[in-house]
Amino acid sequence: MKINNIISASQFSKKEVSDILRLAKTIQFCKSGEASCDAYRMLSAETHNCKNKIAATLFYEPSTRTRLSFEAAMYSLGGNVISTENASHFSSAVKGETLEDTISVVSSYANVIILRHPELDSAKRAVESATVPIINAGSGCGEHPTQALLDLFTIEDEIGRLDNFRIVLVGDLKYGRTIHSLVRLLGLYENVEVIMCCPEQLAIPDDVINFMIANGMRFSAASLHEALEMKPDIVYMTRIQTERDASLALVYNRQMIFGVEELSMLKEDAVIMHPLPRRGEITREVDADKRAAYFRQAANGVSVRAAILTRVL
Ligand code: NCD
Repeated sequence: MKINNIISASQFSKKEVSDILRLAKTIQFCKSGEASCDAYRMLSAETHNCKNKIAATLFYEPSTRTRLSFEAAMYSLGGNVISTENASHFSSAVKGETLEDTISVVSSYANVIILRHPELDSAKRAVESATVPIINAGSGCGEHPTQALLDLFTIEDEIGRLDNFRIVLVGDLKYGRTIHSLVRLLGLYENVEVIMCCPEQLAIPDDVINFMIANGMRFSAASLHEALEMKPDIVYMTRIQTERDASLALVYNRQMIFGVEELSMLKEDAVIMHPLPRRGEITREVDADKRAAYFRQAANGVSVRAAILTRVL
């Protein structure tokens, strides 16, 4: 199943998502060392297309997990990586080069371009001047589709299903691009209920609300404690994106923090997720609890991105 570019989470059919999640699961299983020789052989036939290929990671905004997990994934598939860390300072963007020109040049150096850029339409613009596939690794406060795929993988891995669950989204729902993409993928599944916890200034954008309405999703707003009383299956925490609007630091409040008190309200088989990096919104005491899934979620990034690269290359 070939995918040409990854621009938005809304481009995916349920079949494509299942295919990526299945392949990621196989990759993860083979990495665990428990797979049979046959399973390895089958996987290497399936991922053979990535061998000796070159991925360019072009990041105009900071990143730890997304860039390194894509690079680790590419190496694990027998491919190579070229990279410009902090492209807004260390690439020709400083000299005034347009994104379009950079993309046409990098297209001649690599087989796929993984792009993170502050502008909303950057990935779409990049596709127009690229001659190789573009993967959106975060477009401003718009979307982050590959994070949403790894979030979905984590949900299935942690709670064993993608239908019939209740998820609480907490924090910066306005600028948090991982939230915008995740909601779009959740719309593919049955009976997923979304509860949003955020101050008014950080409310989820209208286009995401309209998406939920159009897809018949159940959603509501509540405080974090009210939401926890509804016994959710997943609590998805996010950081306040002060780089988008510095005045947001003032909006930060206790209602957006998950600590031991909140942990005591959570049911035994629920999980806490966070795309990371976190600031103070999940306290350190929570980390040792088995329901804290955020480091496992970050680790899943490598297998899921290896599956994505396999389908794009
Ligand atoms: C997120 C991002 O960059 O949007 N991080 C990530 O990719 N794991 C979340 C964030 O920066 O808050």
